[in-house]
Amino acid sequence: MGHARAALACPTRVGYRGSVKKTGGHRVLRVATVAWSALLGALGCASERPGGPATVTVSGSVLGAEGRILRRQLERFDRETPDIRVEMRPTPDAADLRHQLYVQWLNARATDPDILQVDAIWTPEFAAAGWILPLDRFAPDTAAFFPVTIEANRWRGDLFALPWFVDVGMLYWRTDLFSEPPETWDALERAVIPIVAGGSPRYGLVWQGARYEGLVTVFLEYLGGFGGRILDGDRVTVQEPPGVLALTTMRDQIHRTGVVPRRVLTWHEEEPRFAFQNGEAALMRNWPYAAGPMQDSTQSRVAGRFAVAPMPAGPGGRHTAAFGGAQLAINAFSPEAAAAWLVIEYLTRPEQMLERASIVGQFPTRTAVYDDPALADALAIPPAQARAIVEAAVPRPVTPVYTQLSEILQIQLHRALSLQAEPRDALARAGSEMQALLDRAGLGRGGVAVR
Ligand code: GLC
Repeated sequence: MGHARAALACPTRVGYRGSVKKTGGHRVLRVATVAWSALLGALGCASERPGGPATVTVSGSVLGAEGRILRRQLERFDRETPDIRVEMRPTPDAADLRHQLYVQWLNARATDPDILQVDAIWTPEFAAAGWILPLDRFAPDTAAFFPVTIEANRWRGDLFALPWFVDVGMLYWRTDLFSEPPETWDALERAVIPIVAGGSPRYGLVWQGARYEGLVTVFLEYLGGFGGRILDGDRVTVQEPPGVLALTTMRDQIHRTGVVPRRVLTWHEEEPRFAFQNGEAALMRNWPYAAGPMQDSTQSRVAGRFAVAPMPAGPGGRHTAAFGGAQLAINAFSPEAAAAWLVIEYLTRPEQMLERASIVGQFPTRTAVYDDPALADALAIPPAQARAIVEAAVPRPVTPVYTQLSEILQIQLHRALSLQAEPRDALARAGSEMQALLDRAGLGRGGVAVR
């Protein structure tokens, strides 16, 4: 895959010179009240586009209620900012398909969409390829966001995307079936085996088991539960005993105890959500977005009958949540970078995050929003607990070759889970292929640091 280096659009040459003011504890660009032509003048871009509104296209996920909230916020921006038209570009649900689509667009230097919804793991790859613009020139208030979310979006010191919402993996549990959530894998199995044997609900625990990125996040949570990691610095450690224990536990839950149904091996985020929402599963591992639609009694059979808890742990580890989520970045080939920044600035304001939390259930990336009493009504768990989970969440390896590393791991995890290989052998193979990849890329042992 030949990563192209982008010819940078107008704003990269001029840097941002617009004024910034403090309002209600967060910085907003006064530009929303400034005529578009004045803004372009300030950015030194005025001569590049003849009159008429700029059109900014925004790629976004439509998972659960995500499409509804994005459309609503973009329509509002449209009404409030007559000089900029915004259009939404829906993207596929599965993270890997979205990634493939972006790689294809950006390799082809497509100018549309101007704004990319980027997964937490893609920023280093896209930044290193020159596909997204550094944002520092727009003076974003990085101190207002969780440090972990900002760190995930820096590459070689520059910020390349602004955190939009944080995802953390959580255990959804039925409050009418259990008096408390299981804390360990043993306790979960003890509680779930009789339920599954009775056939009601038909499934015990459901999660994302298809061969794609979601499976890596589930595995990461089992792995952390047994005290393991994917990488230790620049050394691949996934094949070590905690990894084997984690993968064996997942496989036994499917094929030995039946706690997890075999069909998860083809499931992404939405299938488990539908199963749990229809009352067919006792427990589910999923991201915060699932809470929004499941709380809506017009479409959910479990509204008011579920809660969330940290994922269980095994011996030697701790409750682990994979760190994920979405960032907004500007396509380096966009002719409308300045206008795109205004849309990003708007979508990442505290009030939009609060609205997103109340409609979709997604966690804000700005820390101050957690002190707003309105967030308590919006989230499925107390904001202080959500904040603690975010702060303890475990990132996936931060490297421009993450996608290739993950692909190797996905194949081997799925082989073991579908009984085509023993967990130990599958992980040994994944470990050596991943290490070889890092070494080849000059990022492994003795090479340049992974970040
Ligand atoms: C969610 C997370 C993302 C993760 C993906 C896996 O979209 O936000 O970080 O990679 O799920 O399916």
